[in-house]
Amino acid sequence: MQLLAKTLHGLEAVLAEELRQLGATKIEERKRAVAFEGDLQLMYRANLELRTAIRILMPIANFKARNEDEFYDKIKAIDWEQYMNVKQTLAVDAVTASKTFNHSKYIALKTKDAIVDQFREKYKKRPNVRVYNPHLGVYIYIHDEQVNVSIDSTGESLHKRGYRVASVDAPINEVLAAGMILLSDWDKEGLLMDPMCGSGTLLIEAAMYANHIPPNRLRTHFAFMNWNEYDQDLWEKVKKQADDHIVDHPHPILGWDKNLGCVRKTEQNIEAAGLTGKIEVNRKRFERLEAPPAPGTIIMNPPYDERLAEDNIEEFYEIIGDTLKKKYAGFRAWLITSSMDGIKKVGLRTSRKMTLFNGKLECKFVKYEMYEGSKKQKNEVVLE
Ligand SMILES: C[S@@+](CC[C@H](N)C(=O)[O-])C[C@H]1O[C@@H](n2cnc3c(N)ncnc32)[C@H](O)[C@@H]1O
Repeated sequence: MQLLAKTLHGLEAVLAEELRQLGATKIEERKRAVAFEGDLQLMYRANLELRTAIRILMPIANFKARNEDEFYDKIKAIDWEQYMNVKQTLAVDAVTASKTFNHSKYIALKTKDAIVDQFREKYKKRPNVRVYNPHLGVYIYIHDEQVNVSIDSTGESLHKRGYRVASVDAPINEVLAAGMILLSDWDKEGLLMDPMCGSGTLLIEAAMYANHIPPNRLRTHFAFMNWNEYDQDLWEKVKKQADDHIVDHPHPILGWDKNLGCVRKTEQNIEAAGLTGKIEVNRKRFERLEAPPAPGTIIMNPPYDERLAEDNIEEFYEIIGDTLKKKYAGFRAWLITSSMDGIKKVGLRTSRKMTLFNGKLECKFVKYEMYEGSKKQKNEVVLE
């Protein structure tokens, strides 16, 4: 069957690679999504194992509509009884990029009407709408006059892993954190550290990746479990096979934060993720920290002065740059921020630069290499 994994801007290529490794075929990168083919087992695995997907959709119809009546008729012509019965509930979500259909809420309403009317005409009864955890989630995407109709196999977004029991003011989205780990060139072997760990998202995603732990292992519910043809035995098999691949990663994953409250919250989340003993976290300011022995990879998400105010953002990033230069020879550092003023003040040459979005904030994800000794002069040139 045809499937579509939705993701965040900039993570399409890593998601396509994850799908390749799962054994998906006909993989095609789209804007904030990757289309692929696979069977029911692969759909279950995609929900459980993909680190950079936020939702797995199953496209069921694709048609052209020139006006609302034609749209309504074509939605009503789909045999909805294949996917739900009159006693079950539904929810509709719509996204439009179209001059003809420019009101996504209205399109969602029209879709619901068409489905409900189909059942009412047949049974003189109608299924109810339920926004949270419906039996069937319907997704409509319209580009110009081209309509894609999909059903949702995921339910709550896949970034809701189930381990975030304690949060901080500006946590990073779990899918974005996993994407940053996969985009970085950390090889799972060497030391990885996040010196401004907040609630520990990057550390936890890194540890799950290194130990081959399926990111959604803790979730107890996915929308496909509501489907009529839900195959519980197959799901149990998929879960067991994924669990059988978990390894015991012996390499250090280390975190710090200047705020003791954040350190405690990170510890709570680590415990909830079942990763106690796999990540070490302590309270310390980055600039006062004694660097662990090189080599190592740093991944950090410092304050941007957006959600977390810093007194002097330029000075703060200058301190980050100076600390990296002075103490971290032999390390490479990846940093995500929306603060362009801040980035300018780091004062190190970037060897990679990518655009990612942290929620609505456009960010740069940059890499610095702090060479040791004779390599000092060999800083790479800016690629993007
Ligand atoms: C944007 S938050 C990190 C959020 C984290 N990625 C998460 O998912 O929860 C930035 C963190 O940097 C910490 N911080 C700020 N200045 C610091 C410093 N000089 N040394 C260490 N931590 C610092 C803050 O306490 C805050 O928790």
